[in-house]
Amino acid sequence: DWTPASFIEEKIAEVRERVGDEHVILGLSGGVDSSVAAVLLHRALGDRLTCIFVDNGLLRKGEAAQVVATFRDHFHIRLKAVDAGALFLSRLEGVVDPEQKRKIIGATFIEVFEQATEELTRELGRRPRFLAQGTLYPDVIESVSFRGPSATIKTHHNVGGLPEKLNFEIIEPFRELFKDEVRAIGRLLQVPEVILHRHPFPGPGLAVRVIGPVTKERLDLLREADAIFIEELQRHGLYDQVWQAFAVLLPVQTVGVMGDERTYEYVCALRAVTSVDGMTADWARLPHEFLAHVSNRIVNEVRGINRAVYDISSKPPATIEWE
Ligand code: XMP
Repeated sequence: DWTPASFIEEKIAEVRERVGDEHVILGLSGGVDSSVAAVLLHRALGDRLTCIFVDNGLLRKGEAAQVVATFRDHFHIRLKAVDAGALFLSRLEGVVDPEQKRKIIGATFIEVFEQATEELTRELGRRPRFLAQGTLYPDVIESVSFRGPSATIKTHHNVGGLPEKLNFEIIEPFRELFKDEVRAIGRLLQVPEVILHRHPFPGPGLAVRVIGPVTKERLDLLREADAIFIEELQRHGLYDQVWQAFAVLLPVQTVGVMGDERTYEYVCALRAVTSVDGMTADWARLPHEFLAHVSNRIVNEVRGINRAVYDISSKPPATIEWE
């Protein structure tokens, strides 16, 4: 009989047996799958696991700090956190095409990950032999793209997309599992609920939510607006009722008024959808009073945004993300 407890026990034994005295690395994103994989493998291997966390500067407000606090400080997992925000931003300078953004981010990620692995190899005095990934069963069987069967396959997925030339033996403890099963395992391993219930987040991060050129200033504006939206969804018990929710910063400025002053500032779009698997989605019918409150907070608290709009398009024909 499958239970989360028996699964954990069996995997720990299996991983120990397979890894022996070797070292394992894991690309930690802070999402559900890689987080639960990290805690499970840490149970099995202790310090023979090193997690590599690449802060690409495209994460949400407070996310990088939270990953370090959770995994290094709380779980005492060996964690290499690479602050690569400046590098990603320089590579993205002036780029507006969404697929180009994805390609650049994917390539830069691999480069940074490889560098971190080399650094670790020097520290350990030998190269890690295994690479662990939080791949789920749907990832294994699903060859269709995020955007639907006929669209071109996205060029960059989450951390899974490391090239074979890195030449590791792969450990994928969740290859036969669905998300709910991984959540149940995570709960038993005492992975914080905020992580287990986190909405999906695209690998290219906020770069595909800052429409047009990506700059530090725009990213910071978006982070503030997004944090307010998410905080209010959580406070009103709505966060778990939607598949995904986020803010998008538009490359458009519009006129507003504040006191006696005329303002000319950015527009932010709020997106919330319901979905089963992300392949199709409906815009979430959030209460008007709630939207009014979020809009008020954003335009009053985020200097640089004076207008918020709510996205009422479904997928298809729209996609969940704006880029
Ligand atoms: P779309 O926008 O295609 O998104 O309706 C469907 C789901 O996929 C996520 N998404 C991505 N995830 N890399 C990822 O890892 C990407 O390039 C990417 N693009 C979209 C999106 O957030 C949604 O959950």
